[in-house]
Amino acid sequence: MRTTILDIRKMKTAGQRIPMVTAYDATIGHLIESTGVPMLLVGDSLGMVVQGNATTVPVTLDEMIYHTKMVVRGTQNALIVADMPFMSYKISPEQALTNAARLMQEGGAGAVKLEGGEAIAPIVERVVAAGIPVMAHIGLTPQSVHQLGGWRVQGRDADAAQHLLNDALALERAGAFAIVLETIPAPLAKEITRRLTIPTIGIGAGPDCDGQVQVFHDIVGLLDDMKPRHAKQYANLAEAIRTAVLSYADEVRSGQFPTETQSIKMDEAALATLYGAKS
Ligand code: KIV
Repeated sequence: MRTTILDIRKMKTAGQRIPMVTAYDATIGHLIESTGVPMLLVGDSLGMVVQGNATTVPVTLDEMIYHTKMVVRGTQNALIVADMPFMSYKISPEQALTNAARLMQEGGAGAVKLEGGEAIAPIVERVVAAGIPVMAHIGLTPQSVHQLGGWRVQGRDADAAQHLLNDALALERAGAFAIVLETIPAPLAKEITRRLTIPTIGIGAGPDCDGQVQVFHDIVGLLDDMKPRHAKQYANLAEAIRTAVLSYADEVRSGQFPTETQSIKMDEAALATLYGAKS
């Protein structure tokens, strides 16, 4: 049985911090899950770190379903949360419900994540009422980057902070089982975490959230040109990959690879018939 939303909620009650990492395919999903991380996010950040777009806006629902399927296939125990991409849920509660159902039925997700505050509470309510677990996401919501005027810290002044607190409370009332707080001041995230009964999952929101989520590529150092301030790099896979591929290419050029170990032998008698054959 996979981790459930009840398990995640219990972790808050028990004071256990919740680690969450993004995954976009079966191999990496499997590796992350093997470390015991209970919840994986198939984030629409894949639009940037996998597809090479400047924002998450171009990602489609079909692409999210495709990547979700792969992560689900590579995992057995983790709760898989799939992002609903840009404009796949804000047009109407019916549109949200139809598309969330596709992520669950076709993608195999255990929950969906929606970006937005109090304004989308009726949508969250409708999706939850249909039996689909929803993770909310407020603060710097990347799908609204054009509206926000860039990748900016949210909730810095008193009004904006109050607004975010109201958003969080409305989303909890609407039935969200957890809420991502992205790029907001740490003291505000601490207060939201204190006021909610559902877990807060921070990214760039300081140490006092109930859990943390990070983009896989950021924490393993896969990207040369993207180093967000909120991310800590625990490995340098970009360098490790470059070194490995360079060595491979050098050995191909010099004839050192492949050797007998990587080659397939052939029965001498079968070979002899070839030598004897007319070309
Ligand atoms: O798409 C994503 O990866 C996300 C996280 C950064 C929270 O939404």
